[in-house]
Amino acid sequence: MFEEEFVVEPMRMEQLDQVRRIERACFPTPWPRNAYRREIEKNERAHYLVVRTSEPAQEPQRQFPLSIFPFGRSGSRDVVGYCGVWVMLDEAHITTIAVDPDYRRLGLGQLLIIQMARIALQARATRMTLEVRMSNEGAQRLYRKYGFSDGGVRPRYYSDDFEDALIMRSEELKSPSFAERMDAGEEELRRRVRWTTRL
Ligand SMILES: CC(C)(COP(=O)(O)OP(=O)(O)OC[C@H]1O[C@@H](n2cnc3c(N)ncnc32)[C@H](O)[C@@H]1OP(=O)(O)O)[C@@H](O)C(=O)NCCC(=O)NCCS
Repeated sequence: MFEEEFVVEPMRMEQLDQVRRIERACFPTPWPRNAYRREIEKNERAHYLVVRTSEPAQEPQRQFPLSIFPFGRSGSRDVVGYCGVWVMLDEAHITTIAVDPDYRRLGLGQLLIIQMARIALQARATRMTLEVRMSNEGAQRLYRKYGFSDGGVRPRYYSDDFEDALIMRSEELKSPSFAERMDAGEEELRRRVRWTTRL
């Protein structure tokens, strides 16, 4: 069992710097700050979540011997992952998901997928969809574990290198097999990490 405890909650504007730090570590083309602001404050169909440690970790003291900060500066850091989903009528589209490289393979990606599925179900969506880089096998394995399957290709989808995107679609969210997958996933996760949700 991983010792730190995690909290999943709606993303807040004051967490954006931390979210963008993770984003820069994960994606070649980060979103502009305003895009997040629009999503969080204006887009009623959008649900953005963070997963954070329950206790903030203190960043190492940074000393600036010749600077105007003679006593150094410190800050706290607790966001370790984030995701977003748009619910449009019966479809819930995952717009982004990322986990801090220092916190991968603990189950936090799964935790975020499960929470997005719960939000989608509550909003009466029947399926989840997403796009993923053809070369991103790790993320594809995560999605397949939750019953997503291939739904086509968007050629040259990514603007930085024109890589194709694989479209993936979940099975019917209300199907017994999806519910079983979620329950089994959650049970497996409970053996690996401790978390609470504040959604
Ligand atoms: C994809 C990502 C969110 C997964 O986060 P994570 O917290 O490490 O995922 P989990 O620990 O929940 O992994 C769940 C399962 O997914 C699969 N998986 C995840 N990362 C994998 C990898 N790098 N290689 C192979 N399988 C992987 C495994 O089946 C894993 O289960 P296991 O650890 O029991 O074997 C994370 O790697 C990431 O942030 N990548 C960069 C951003 C990105 O690519 N986002 C997806 C955009 S579409």
